[in-house]
Amino acid sequence: MSKLSIVECLAAIGLIIGFTGIACTSVSARDDVPEEVKSRPNPVTLEESEIRYYERQFKGKCSRCHGIDGTGKGSDAEASDQIVKPANFTDAKYMASRTDGQLFYQILKGGGDRCAMPAFGPGSDHAWTEDKIWHMVAFVRRFAQASSQ
Ligand code: HEC
Repeated sequence: MSKLSIVECLAAIGLIIGFTGIACTSVSARDDVPEEVKSRPNPVTLEESEIRYYERQFKGKCSRCHGIDGTGKGSDAEASDQIVKPANFTDAKYMASRTDGQLFYQILKGGGDRCAMPAFGPGSDHAWTEDKIWHMVAFVRRFAQASSQ
């Protein structure tokens, strides 16, 4: 290998590492949500009487990353090995940019290799029904509603 090609080789490796770094840090929620799921409106309504149940679920299974208040500052999220940090669910502008279907799909399937978010849908360790996940989507929406009032 000539001297020049070693330099070129190092430059190429540098570029690859650079690009991967950019790709990883800019990745957040899944962007591979099938179109028909993405545009699906939430088929359920979260009743007053159900709020406490989902509050407990969120506290027990989500808050370590998403924070009790939904701001994304859970203790696990602060851990340095989580490259993709949880979004701020109280940010009304951000949440308005996410469809119900996108939130649903992320909870259903988890983050895959994109982030630390576990899957909760059928077939996962949690095995939540789709109905339960749609209710959780409605619950997650409450964080932004509360902050915009
Ligand atoms: C181990 C950490 C972790 C746990 C536990 C976790 N999440 Fe996540 N979650 C993430 C990360 C990281 C993301 C990707 C960044 C983002 O979009 O918020 C994410 C994304 C999401 C999204 C998509 C938000 C968006 O930007 O579109 C929703 C909705 C969500 N999580 C809900 C939940 C719910 C509900 C639970 C509990 C049942 C939960 N998460 C548990 C880490 C976690």
